Amino acid sequence: MKKKASSQPLQIRSITVDTPVVLAPMVGLSHSAIRSLLVEQGGVGLLFTEMMAAKRLPHDSVTHSPMLVRSPIEKPLIYQIFLSSPEPVQLAVDKLEHVGADGVDVNLGCPAPQLRRRGAGGFLAEDREAVRGIVRALRKATELPVSAKIRLGRELDKDKLVQFCKLLEDEGIDFLTVHGRLHGEKFCRPARWDWIGHVKKELSIPVIANGGIFTVSDAKRCLEQSGADGLMIGRGGMERPWLFADVAREVYGRQDISGFATRKELFFRFIQLLEERFAVERRLGRMKQFTQYYARAFTFGHHLAGAVQNSNSMDEAIDSAEQFFARTEPSELQN
Ligand SMILES: Cc1cc2nc3c(=O)[nH]c(=O)nc-3n(C[C@H](O)[C@H](O)[C@H](O)COP(=O)(O)O)c2cc1C
Repeated sequence: MKKKASSQPLQIRSITVDTPVVLAPMVGLSHSAIRSLLVEQGGVGLLFTEMMAAKRLPHDSVTHSPMLVRSPIEKPLIYQIFLSSPEPVQLAVDKLEHVGADGVDVNLGCPAPQLRRRGAGGFLAEDREAVRGIVRALRKATELPVSAKIRLGRELDKDKLVQFCKLLEDEGIDFLTVHGRLHGEKFCRPARWDWIGHVKKELSIPVIANGGIFTVSDAKRCLEQSGADGLMIGRGGMERPWLFADVAREVYGRQDISGFATRKELFFRFIQLLEERFAVERRLGRMKQFTQYYARAFTFGHHLAGAVQNSNSMDEAIDSAEQFFARTEPSELQN
């Protein structure tokens, strides 16, 4: 299947997605500092938060919860929730509307053990009637865009997959993200972009393809194989935060993007954003998590990753990073 990337904005109810290159929801990574960094770098057209427990949301402090802290430049921003029944929907949605969410996404794909216990994420997807109840409640609770993020299912079964996606569409979701792996499949396995294509062919709502996009060439192949309306990028965008801009430019023809001059500048801007957005005790863990990925962009990046990982304070981690960048060839620092 060949599909030319459309340069037309994607209109999803009240939100206009200028370029359908989307930041994936990722625990510990899709927070305010990263989202702002990516907006400043350019190219990202739609942002997701990391997943949040719908039940807890009404009790989270708008000013103190690291999940809810946000800058106005992080737009449009979809808040992802996980839940196992419709009960928490109304209060969770009220809170999300109060904090200025641009949309609500329901996690129906995550295989993490903490979701198994709660019967949420990918574990919920097995119970079609429960999913129907939740999506119906969400649709009733808000005029905001409602979306879902799924994997391909427990086993490769095209009819079952398409039926499930149609159920979501019939219950009124506005767009669907499909991560092209089966439930429980490891990230080292190539994503099945062609299976996302099976879904795309059968639905009328926009379908966003996700999984294994690390380069512009991956982005082009994913689009060709899936025919999707947009691309969601997770780990690849942490390794190379300029990937969103590269894809926006080279796949979607956007010429108006200018990001950070160097990779060092980008890294230290990230640290500054961490300091602006998070309390002292919440910074180092987030710096470590991001650096594990970002370090992969450099030939000797394992030195950076190791030094930051072993740091006991932000000052120590920043010192190590300064030393690493001082030793790095200038040619490696250019975007
Ligand atoms: C550290 C990490 C945390 C994640 N957290 C979430 C999450 O909160 N919600 C979700 O739907 N998927 C989550 N995912 C899955 C990603 O959204 C995405 O589907 C997956 O990483 C595949 O995309 P990629 O190959 O571009 O990284 C997470 C993935 C990673 C690596």
